Amino acid sequence: MNRYRKTVYLLLALVAPVPAIAQSNASCGVTTEVLYRNPNVPIEARVEDLLRRMTTEEKIMQLNQYTLGMNNNKNNVGVEVTDIPATVGSLIFFGTEPDLRNRMQQHAMEHSRLGIPILFGHDVIHGFRTIFPIPLAQACTWNTEAVRRSCAVAAQEARMSGVDWTFSPMVDVAHDPRWGRVAEGYGEDPFANGAFGAAAVRGYQGASLDDSLTVAACLKHYVGYGASEAGRDYVYTEISRQTLWDTYLQPFKRGVQAGAATVMSSFNDISGTPGSANRYTLTDVLREKWGFEGFVVSDWGAVGQLITQRHAKDLKHAGELAINAGMDMDMMSHAFDAHLAASLEEGKVDTLTLNNAVRRVLRVKFQLGLFEHPYTPENSTDSRFLRKESLALADTVAQESMVLLKNNGALPLKGKKKMAVIGPLAKADHGLLGCWWGHGNDDDVDVFYDGIMREFGSQCQLRYAKGCDYDGDDATGFAEAVKAARWADVVVLFLGEKSRWSGENTSRASIALPEIQHRLMETLAQTGKPIVLVLSNGRPLELNRMEPLASAIVEAWQPGINGANALAGILSGRINPSGRLAITFPYSTGQIPIYYNRRQSGRTHQGFYNDMTSNPLYSFGDGLSYTTYTYGDITASATQVDKNGRLHLEVPVTNTGDMDGQETVFWFVSDPYSTITRPVKELKHFEKRMIKAGETETFAFDVDVAQDLGYPDGNGNQVVEVGEMTILVKDKKLTINITD
Ligand code: BGC
Repeated sequence: MNRYRKTVYLLLALVAPVPAIAQSNASCGVTTEVLYRNPNVPIEARVEDLLRRMTTEEKIMQLNQYTLGMNNNKNNVGVEVTDIPATVGSLIFFGTEPDLRNRMQQHAMEHSRLGIPILFGHDVIHGFRTIFPIPLAQACTWNTEAVRRSCAVAAQEARMSGVDWTFSPMVDVAHDPRWGRVAEGYGEDPFANGAFGAAAVRGYQGASLDDSLTVAACLKHYVGYGASEAGRDYVYTEISRQTLWDTYLQPFKRGVQAGAATVMSSFNDISGTPGSANRYTLTDVLREKWGFEGFVVSDWGAVGQLITQRHAKDLKHAGELAINAGMDMDMMSHAFDAHLAASLEEGKVDTLTLNNAVRRVLRVKFQLGLFEHPYTPENSTDSRFLRKESLALADTVAQESMVLLKNNGALPLKGKKKMAVIGPLAKADHGLLGCWWGHGNDDDVDVFYDGIMREFGSQCQLRYAKGCDYDGDDATGFAEAVKAARWADVVVLFLGEKSRWSGENTSRASIALPEIQHRLMETLAQTGKPIVLVLSNGRPLELNRMEPLASAIVEAWQPGINGANALAGILSGRINPSGRLAITFPYSTGQIPIYYNRRQSGRTHQGFYNDMTSNPLYSFGDGLSYTTYTYGDITASATQVDKNGRLHLEVPVTNTGDMDGQETVFWFVSDPYSTITRPVKELKHFEKRMIKAGETETFAFDVDVAQDLGYPDGNGNQVVEVGEMTILVKDKKLTINITD
């Protein structure tokens, strides 16, 4: 039995008999005498009115999240629900049918004393049913507007299916591609994570949460989870206050400023105080410094894990540490529902702390309009999913996310008559969805091979051979692959990772592809035929053995359901590739961590590896095009500027080739010396634009000196120092003088 149907039956057993579902205020039993039920009363007054009426037990229940149905993330083995209290605050909803949600909601509305609606959450990470490229690939588009729109599509499909709240975006800066969760974030740069995170928040939440097509966003994992030691998931993180502010907090601040309704606390121990019991990050910074008014949910079981982390002596203690630090909702630890009442009685948690947490949860429910519209209209799947414009957007995002890493002239493929399409990824469907594929369906995936057939089928003969599987040691398919390669003018070789090889709990000690894939490529290379390597993966790979054998390399990532047209168009030259790496590809796993915005060593001429290069294979921002761009000099409205002033910078970029193309201009700043040392360069602004062949576009950066040329100290105070500051754009430099 499929897992959703199974859950429906379970639910039916739970809440039957089910009377007709009511949508109107009147049929929900709403009367305007009760303040909190009156939509015309300001939200804060409604929150206070409701809070006043609640018993301690009812309050505590609002702070818990259980699950409804079965999880498809094998890491969090789903719980079959047999007894969900009508007063529970939130449920992770693993279904796609509004009917299921509505039945559960009806249980809450009609069988709880105050009729407080349940908040239904789900991991809508890169799409709900229309699956977009993984977030790491989305970052390589450098197109925040496209990312915003993809999140709006995800929100529309999710909300129409009964989900009010997504656990996304993940804005964890990550410098270690051994950590599988690099797939879920926006790469190695704090500014980029902030820009894409803010765009995602705007996409999910739209103009108002109280809209039938938007969902509440959740910035995760707060904070520093991406610093996991040696790339191992869930482990300790050593983060100084300076690095916390420079690197890890920055994107969360942008997300909070964009209006994110919720934040998820992280699993990791942050230099001795786990993220889920960290008063400094959860209260001092998030609430007091940034004024965040939404609520904080723990990550799955994170409160209970305070015991394993040797911070709490038992679950009751764990709950106390968490709520006193600033946690509002406990996801699946059952610390709050089981022990908070006793903690309150014993004075270990005070009523104000409890009330504040409840206030924050209720506020989001009111903002979402759940009291007025607790139920999801039951529309057909056709009207909800895979709309034409959603698929078109998925195609655009895929096109812009793919990165041409190498090209010795083999691409675009012109005039080829015989093409061998080889490799385990050539006909993969599920493999293209990537981690957290939501309710993506393998049958919806446009496989790479089909895209190639459509693109080249009429002008070119194609032969396919799988060659080998993703891993294992079965080389029996090599012979057929070699035969196809010998016959062909060019080999298009599809290698990469399975969907489940990245994402949560998918750390790898080596980021090289399995040996069998190397052997396949090496065997094919012996035919002497040019190889165009297409990679589909969820993390940067170690490519030092493969790169010399390839005439061209396209990083296609895990593009979701609609990547085949994008890839085929890039291969043929119909589409000019415009993706740029949002994360460094090390030359070797042993170089990790390696990222562009490192701090400068005291010896720039020494300290290199003795056994290999110290440079990465591909750097942050790398990505080729079928055209060429020339940058003119940077000009500034002034080269001397006040600490609190503003500056207008411009740079002209000319498309000097003969194909239209989209160029991303990255604006970096570099401080020659400062009281607290700064990274060698830091991204402060980027913009992507179409430049027609032969034409020039002028790109601009409006600099807020304090914000863009300053930096946070270890207490989060913004420092601007007088003196020189270098602006870097591609190969151009300009020095600005900051004065008092
Ligand atoms: C993950 C979160 C996710 C949550 C709910 C956790 O294991 O770390 O990213 O949102 O589960 O599924």
